[in-house]
Amino acid sequence: MKIRYDLKPAAQRRTAPLKPEGPLSFGQLRTDHMFLMDHVDGSWRDPRIVPYGPFSLDPGAVVLHYSQEIFEGAKAFKHADGEIHAFRIDKNAERLNRSAPGLCMPTVLVADQVEAILALLDVDRLWFPEQDGASLYIRPFMIGTQDSLGVKPSNKYLFCVFLSPSGPYYPKGFTEPIKLLISRRFHRAAPGGTGALKTGGNYAASLRAGEAAHDLGASQVLFLDTTDTWIEEAGAMNHYHVTRDGKLVIPTFTDTILRSVTSESVLALGKAALGVETVQERIPLAGFLEGLKSGAITEAGGFGTAAVVSPVGAYVFEDKTEVLVGGGAIGPHTRRVYEVISGIQRGTRPAPAGWLFKAPRVV
Ligand code: PLP
Ligand code: COI
Repeated sequence: MKIRYDLKPAAQRRTAPLKPEGPLSFGQLRTDHMFLMDHVDGSWRDPRIVPYGPFSLDPGAVVLHYSQEIFEGAKAFKHADGEIHAFRIDKNAERLNRSAPGLCMPTVLVADQVEAILALLDVDRLWFPEQDGASLYIRPFMIGTQDSLGVKPSNKYLFCVFLSPSGPYYPKGFTEPIKLLISRRFHRAAPGGTGALKTGGNYAASLRAGEAAHDLGASQVLFLDTTDTWIEEAGAMNHYHVTRDGKLVIPTFTDTILRSVTSESVLALGKAALGVETVQERIPLAGFLEGLKSGAITEAGGFGTAAVVSPVGAYVFEDKTEVLVGGGAIGPHTRRVYEVISGIQRGTRPAPAGWLFKAPRVV
């Protein structure tokens, strides 16, 4: 892919590393540039890096009415070698290409997605936030841009990648366990639907549930399947629990659960690296609650790019009753998984081959 660079004049670009004064929140800041590419007449055209800013869309653009959109979320980190390394962005690119056909959208070659992300990280490398626990969050997305009100796939698309220097997704970071609402009222995804795809509509549909969770002091909803039998995942992360007999269990990826790159990494690392066996099973709600009460389940939490490893200290129900996990404290397995995953990401622990992508110095 031949990327065209249409950069800001040097005097308008960041010239020194970003050193945020206060704690950085998640997803608020932007960098100087973004990557864009158009899909017209069946092929991707004009890959380019341009100044970050608004782009124009027809008010009748398909994405604005029928939500023909897919996105990804990944992270890059600055290592002790001073270079920027992105974590498993090939996996995100593969997932975007699994989401695309589900929304009748074109795919983008994995190599091209990786190249686009690395080129943008190269250009905006000074935006890496030098603060504990911070990262450069990477947001690739694609939208249907045709001006058309018929309910049918757009005939044009825009693919964009931008970056966000970010702190932790939950304001207290890893230090304080979160609470999740187990809801029988709201459901995130139905069989045969888009739950396993990363599309904006899933998140729009989960907003009201998220607000209900906040009203009960919870950060997110832990969604059940539509029969309220099985534990699925949270609004922005997969779920896991650890059993007293030493297993870390992630719900089986069905068509109503997003295949998390973080979960896949935990599963691949397994006992050798994490000191706990990692497995996938379908998790019946009844058995899960029983395990919490009896103490057979000792830890729980969420996995995600933004969330990293987020310990859960308690679950709340719509009748406001609560149940604690492991006495509400962060357990040893959760700590170890967090340390190993973030160590690999930040270059303080060896990464399995192919997990890190170094931004080349081109610009
Ligand atoms: N599940 C949902 C619904 C998500 O939004 C996310 C975040 O991307 C995840 C799971 C975790 O996936 P990943 O680890 O690939 O970020
Ligand atoms: C991510 O973890 O990258 C996500 O996309 C989750 C959320 C911010 C929507």
